[in-house]
Parts: sequence; structure tokens; C-alpha cells
Amino acid sequence: TTTEPEIRKGLAGVYADYTAVSKVNAETNSLLYRGYPVQELAANCSFEQVAYLLWHGELPTATQLEELQHVERSFRSLDPEIKQVIDILPTSAHPMDVLRTAVSAIGALDPHADDSSVESNLAKSVQLLAQIPAVVAYDQRRRHGLDIIEPNDELSYAENFLYVTFGEVPDKVVVDAFNVSLILYAEHSFNASTFTARVITSTLSDLYSAVVGGIGALKGPLHGGANEAVMHIFDEIGTADKAADWLAGALAEKRKIMGFGHRVYKNGDSRVPTMKASLDTLVEYYQRPDLAELYDNLEEAMTGGKNIKPNLDYPSGPAYHLMGFDTPTFTPLFVAARITGWTAHIMEQLAANSLIRPLSAYNGVDERHLER
Ligand code: SDX
Repeated sequence: TTTEPEIRKGLAGVYADYTAVSKVNAETNSLLYRGYPVQELAANCSFEQVAYLLWHGELPTATQLEELQHVERSFRSLDPEIKQVIDILPTSAHPMDVLRTAVSAIGALDPHADDSSVESNLAKSVQLLAQIPAVVAYDQRRRHGLDIIEPNDELSYAENFLYVTFGEVPDKVVVDAFNVSLILYAEHSFNASTFTARVITSTLSDLYSAVVGGIGALKGPLHGGANEAVMHIFDEIGTADKAADWLAGALAEKRKIMGFGHRVYKNGDSRVPTMKASLDTLVEYYQRPDLAELYDNLEEAMTGGKNIKPNLDYPSGPAYHLMGFDTPTFTPLFVAARITGWTAHIMEQLAANSLIRPLSAYNGVDERHLER
């Protein structure tokens, strides 16, 4: 008899390849981007500097940063054709579907879409970095019957994203919290959406196809969609005093509690303390101790219940809520950050490519033949 193949469901614990982009260490509960601890980058760098680091492997010099900012800022306006594509979609369309469609259209309109040279893919990566806020902001504003706001090239990436969404640059404490969230969301090794992008790239398909695939994977509530789901849970619970009872009911129904647990980190997500600290500054700034109490009560109940720790989506959801983003806009914000990690992995996959094609063990009906 043939030996039973060992199935690794969900590829859990399987090392599919090497990567030099980031190192996730569950034992030490740490995360390095090109060797730098993410906490140091979040405390000292702009998202633009981290984008450069992920793409090039080194932090930019002042000149290199100026060049990146110059190019990124020149692509911030929403192309009229892309605005037309978005306008075809109902305002009831999910923002992740709108963003997925817009990125697909950007690719279809790019005459260099199939040029997979490093230079061409770097240029596309910077252009997508600049265009995604334009799409996300326009989609949120049109849902509120508001006109598009033209970008401001004097502003940093984080400031401009908030400006084109809300019409003003908020106080530094809000900009800083947003910048921290983008850095923390930027990259995380072979997570489902990044691996999806690498699988698509491994067939030598184009960068836009890989990014559209990544958006599709990230949308799911078991992955990026969890930050939106956390806010829906908060709305379902209502007030902090109801958190423990709500959780008992949810766990009794075998529901997954979004914002908790992780495939790799088993004693807490390395990024949570940094994002929680930023959330605390926003709770203080917006005077929302009620939200902080609900957050703490649910976390406490979950620790007491199944002892499953929060992941990055848990503090990020309420933080984006306090900043004023619509709940369905939360995961597009994750895309705006993760476009840097995805494109760094796409370029790495191309550099040392091999087609990603695992095996399947057959457990269907035995061979049979047509009646003569
Ligand atoms: C992200 O991979 C990445 O790096 C992703 C990410 C990134 O930066 O790219 O970090 C971003 O996606 C964070 C995760 C966001 N997802 C959620 O918050 C969704 C809720 N989380 C769970 O669905 C779950 O924790 C996963 C999917 C994240 C991980 O699950 P695993 O590794 O497949 O583990 P599992 O589902 O088999 O859980 C093991 C046990 C199970 O209990 P039993 O069936 O064995 O009794 O723990 C339970 C699970 O039921 N469990 C949970 C739970 N997470 C695990 N039970 C309730 N709620 C949860 N959140």
C-alpha cells in the first residue's frame, strides 16, 4: 500500500521559501523589517522611509527620500478614467471591491503592465502607493455625497491621506497614530495575501494581477477584514458592561472573535503594544474612555475565556474609528500600507522565481469507466 501523504492543512508550519524582507519570530514575539525591529521604525520613521526600506533593503538617504517623495507626490491625483470606473459602482459596493476594481483598472490602463523589470515594478509600486489613498478617500467621500478633494503635495503621505479623506490635516497626535498604523501594517512575511501575491507572481503574471489577488485575500475576516469586523463586534456589544456576556454567548455559538488569535504568534502579536499605545493617545485626544473600557473588558474576557491574545487588527479598528474612517474603509487602509510589503515580495519572488504548485492527495471516487 502507498504510505498516506502528510497533509499540512492551511500550510500551517510549512516553510515555503526564504525571504529577506521581514522576520517574524513567534518565540521572541518580534518582527524585523530588513533587520530593523518594527517598534523602532514606528517610533522614529515616516511611512515613506519604511516603504523605501522594504523595497530597497536599506533606509533612504535624505536625497533618496526626497526623490521618492517627489515621485509619490506627483501621482496622488485620481486619474479621470479611474474616477469613471469607480462612478459606475454603486456607493453600496464594499470599499474593498471598489479598491480591487480600481487597481485592476489602473493595471489595465498601464501600457507597461507586463514589463516586469525591477525598474518598471518599482515605478508601479510607488504609483500604486500614491493612487490607493486617492481611491479610498474618494470612495468614502462619495458614500457621504461629498466631492473629491485634490491632493496637497506639501503634505506627507499620512497627512495627505487624512486631508483628502476629511478635508483637513488633523492634529499631530492623529497623524502620528495613522503613520504608526501604516508602518505596523506594512509587511508580515508569508501571510495569506502576500503568499497569494507570490503565487500569482510565480507564474510570471504581472504586478497588478498579483496585487489584485492580494486585495482579494486580504478582504476576508480571517485576515485583513478582521479590523472592520472588530468594529462591528464593538457596535454589537454596545457598552463595556455587556462585553463579558456578549463573549460568553459568542463563544458558546463557536464564533471566531475577530481581532484575536494568530497563525504564527501564539503568545501575542508583536505589533499590538505599539498600536495600543497609539490607540491610547487617540482615546485621550478624543475623550473616549468608554471605548477604552469596552476594548479592555473584551480583551480581559477573551484572555479569561480561551486565553487567545489580540492581533494587530484589534487596536487598529477602534483607532481608525476614532480618526473618522467608515468601518468598511478600515481594510482598504490595511491595503494602503501592505502594498509596500506585497510589492517587495513580488520583486523578491521574481528575482529567484520558481512556480509555486503544491501537491494534492486524492480522496475522491475510485477510477471508473463509461458504460459501453
Ligand atoms: C491578520 O498571517 C498574518 O501574518 C496575518 C496578519 C498580517 O499582518 O498579515 O497578521 C494580519 O490577518 C491577523 C489575523 C486577523 N484575523 C482575525 O482576527 C480572525 C480571528 N482569528 C482566528 O480566525 C484565528 O486566530 C486565525 C485565523 C487568525 C488563526 O487561526 P489558526 O492558526 O488557523 O488556528 P485555529 O483557527 O485552528 O485556532 C486554534 C484554536 C481553535 O480552537 P479549537 O477548534 O481547536 O477548539 O483556537 C481557536 C480555534 O477555534 N481560536 C479562536 C480564535 N482564534 C483561534 N476561537 C475564537 N476566536 C478566535 N479569534
